[in-house]
Amino acid sequence: MSVGTAPGKVILFGEHAVVYGRPALAAPVTGVQARAEVVDLPKHPAGKVRLEAPQMRLGGWLHAMERNERLVQAVGRALELLEARPAVALLVRLNSNLPVAAGLGSSAAVSVALLRGLSAHLDIPLTTERLSELSLELERFFHGTPSGIDTSVIAFGKPVYFVRGQVPVALQPAQPLHLVIADSGQPSETAAVVASVRVAHTKEPQLHERLFDAIGVIAREARERIETGQGAPLGPLMDENHARLAEMGVSSDRLEGLVAAARQAGAQGAKLSGAGRGGNIIALVTPETAGTVGQALRKAGAVGLLQTVVEA
Ligand code: MEV
Repeated sequence: MSVGTAPGKVILFGEHAVVYGRPALAAPVTGVQARAEVVDLPKHPAGKVRLEAPQMRLGGWLHAMERNERLVQAVGRALELLEARPAVALLVRLNSNLPVAAGLGSSAAVSVALLRGLSAHLDIPLTTERLSELSLELERFFHGTPSGIDTSVIAFGKPVYFVRGQVPVALQPAQPLHLVIADSGQPSETAAVVASVRVAHTKEPQLHERLFDAIGVIAREARERIETGQGAPLGPLMDENHARLAEMGVSSDRLEGLVAAARQAGAQGAKLSGAGRGGNIIALVTPETAGTVGQALRKAGAVGLLQTVVEA
């Protein structure tokens, strides 16, 4: 048996604007992961693939499963992309403890874990860059027009500074960043939110270009602050990024409630993270304030909390 795993992710700065070519920052979230196990089934004809994804209530031989099921398409495409010619039948078992539609990159993590599991099992070496490229191809089954930031940060497993179409640059925090991640419990379908921003951008291009530019400037300033400790403080940059996203229409009452609660409880800054209209918020804390901020977020309705430290 071979196993491929992949962590979750948070967008630190720059979501949505990154789809339109502005820079963004993201970090992996360990402690949650997608896992792909690949096992030989020697008693079955070579080339056949059995898929089991219990959380999605999916199980069966790939060729006999619903063709329009996204996960089925992704597994088929992964084998094509790897130009895999397995000499026996295979079982691919997918599991994930990443919340779905929560902004933590669950589909990107499944894509990366799947490619890792298959390439390890079939002895097809992949560089991290190639893994990142191929997982972006798979991610398209799940969310239409991804910028590539989710699959990049998850494949690299390191904080990144990302510009669409370019190789991500490793982000080197001068000091560790402590984050509390709070789940609003409101589902956030990335594809739908990205599509609605696209419609809004077509209707009001100037407003949206201005917002994307402002977010791009924030992302660049945040990178400088994170890497050098100089320049504008990070918490207010997070608050400002959140305000621009709210102006774009991708916040929600629940997200506003969580962001306000985190700030009141002593977070240095807070913002929605990912596509928005639900999903998660992130709050910048210190090891001392993490507990209080977490409690306040629970009181304000967070249905799940994670803590992560962003470091080089
Ligand atoms: C989703 O994690 C981030 C978005 O910017 C979409 C994307 O970049 O593909 C909303």
